[in-house]
Amino acid sequence: MKVTVSRKAHFNAAHRLYNCEWSDERNDDMFGKCANPHFHGHNYELIVSVTGEIEPETGYVMDMKVLKDLIANEIEEAFDHKNLNEQVPEFISLNPTAENISVVIWNKLRPHIDSKLELEITLYETPRNFVTFKG
Ligand code: NI
Repeated sequence: MKVTVSRKAHFNAAHRLYNCEWSDERNDDMFGKCANPHFHGHNYELIVSVTGEIEPETGYVMDMKVLKDLIANEIEEAFDHKNLNEQVPEFISLNPTAENISVVIWNKLRPHIDSKLELEITLYETPRNFVTFKG
C-alpha cells in the first residue's frame, strides 16, 4: 500500500528566458515578456511529493521535518531571492524555464531521499501555470 506525502515551499527568484543562439526578435517572439533582458521575478510555489510504503514502526512514509529541512537547505537556500540565470550555477547555460527548474530541483533532492521512495516535483511559476516532473 503506497501513500504520498507532500510538502509545500516557496521561493522568489528572477530570471530571463532566452536562447543565446537566436536573434533578439526571435527570442521576443518565443518568450515574450520573459525574454526581457532586464530580468523579472516570479513567486514560485513548490510542492515536493514523496511516495512509498508506510513504515510500521513510525507510521510515516517520510519524516516531514526531514523533508522540510531538506527543501530549505537544498532549494530555498540556493534559489530564494536569486537571479537564476546569473547566480545559480545550474542555469548558467540552461534556460530557467519552469520545466528546467523542476528537473534541477528533482536532481538536487533525489540523492537525499531514500531510493525506495518515489519523488515528484510540482512547480507553480504563476497560480495558473505549473509543471510536474517525476524523474
Ligand atoms: Ni518569467
